[in-house]
Amino acid sequence: MVRGSVQMKKLLVVLSGLVLFGCSEQSRLSSTPTPNAAPRATPNPGSNQTPGGPGLRSLAKHLYIGTGVAAPALGTEPYTSTLANEYNMAIAENVGKMRAVEAREGVFDFEAQDALVRFATVHNMKMQGGPLIWAPAIPDWMNEYRGNTAELTSIMTTYITTVMQHYSTKFPGVIIAWEVVNEATTSGLGVFSAVPNCVELAFRTARAADPNVALFYNDYGDETSGGTATKVHNLVAPLKQKGLVDAVGFQSHFATHNAPTMSAIKAAMESLGAIGLDVYVTEFDFSLPSANGTTPDNPDDLLTQATYYRDYLETCMATPNCKQFITWGFTDAHSWIPKFRKGSGAALPFDVNYNKKPAYYGMQDALSRAAAR
Ligand code: G3I
Repeated sequence: MVRGSVQMKKLLVVLSGLVLFGCSEQSRLSSTPTPNAAPRATPNPGSNQTPGGPGLRSLAKHLYIGTGVAAPALGTEPYTSTLANEYNMAIAENVGKMRAVEAREGVFDFEAQDALVRFATVHNMKMQGGPLIWAPAIPDWMNEYRGNTAELTSIMTTYITTVMQHYSTKFPGVIIAWEVVNEATTSGLGVFSAVPNCVELAFRTARAADPNVALFYNDYGDETSGGTATKVHNLVAPLKQKGLVDAVGFQSHFATHNAPTMSAIKAAMESLGAIGLDVYVTEFDFSLPSANGTTPDNPDDLLTQATYYRDYLETCMATPNCKQFITWGFTDAHSWIPKFRKGSGAALPFDVNYNKKPAYYGMQDALSRAAAR
């Protein structure tokens, strides 16, 4: 356990010694409702105690605090109870992707994502849906598709409409924001790039499919100024003028060697706020050098990580247009990092045994301070 350890004491010293942001209390009511801070009892209350103070969601009065969910882990413990206790928002890490939902042409499989949406409903959580259009998630049958442009366009618009209306009809009010397009400026649009004006059409179709949800564009590298941020800005600004987009997602897959400064992130959030867009932190994790992928090579990195988790969450809460703060998973037992970035890992707030790491306490600290104001 980290609590009570030397590391935790070091963390508390670090946290209490740092100069904190002067973040004033901000109302973050917008097109998205205020999150309900009170978690309902879980079906299995005896196993849902995560020691060490109130869950994050009970402290997050004005913010959606969420996580990507590894659907295969849902139903296992302590994954399930930790998810329900700590978070008021979720997004499927994989089962909401086109590759999973329409693996065969015209055959829609909602089963795995429906299970998560049912879980969110029972536990009074909200969800993000999608990504609807993301090149790496295009199923094989589409990548091999040799139809004409009109057929491709129809496949895309039918997909968006079918998926969104499945959820607005079957689970009204649970999915409050849709990730309509992911990584258009970085990964491209794959086979969908043949669709004329693809990004705008995707957003227009999504708006028509459900006018009551927020729509957002998601990417990485847009968290600061620079090439990608400029491309994203140029992409979303005209869409915003047409009333087709509400927010931009900052994926935020950071690591010790490349994490941006808080002032750079805040400036990027504010420049989107200046054109009327909200910002959602959508996939935050902070990886550490880790030979085995789950424990840091240098235990002191946990303190750097904790400070970053705390500061990023505080920056979001101190910036009025930052409305959702989501990490890409919550336990190092289920993280994409070790598989995709060899030699890195330990990126999330709970360790591989679901013990709370200093990063967890960094988030708790940020939320507690905001709740006390
Ligand atoms: O579920 C199958 C399993 O049945 C099969 O045996 C196994 C063989 O490799 O693959 C399993 O699927 C893998 C899936 O993760 C679940 O583990 C896929 O191969 C693998 O490609 C997939 O990776 C996901 C990746 O996106 C690609 O979709 C990661 O889990 C997921 O964390 C990652 O998330 C992305 C965001 O969607 C977009 N932003 C970047 C982020 C990180 O790459």
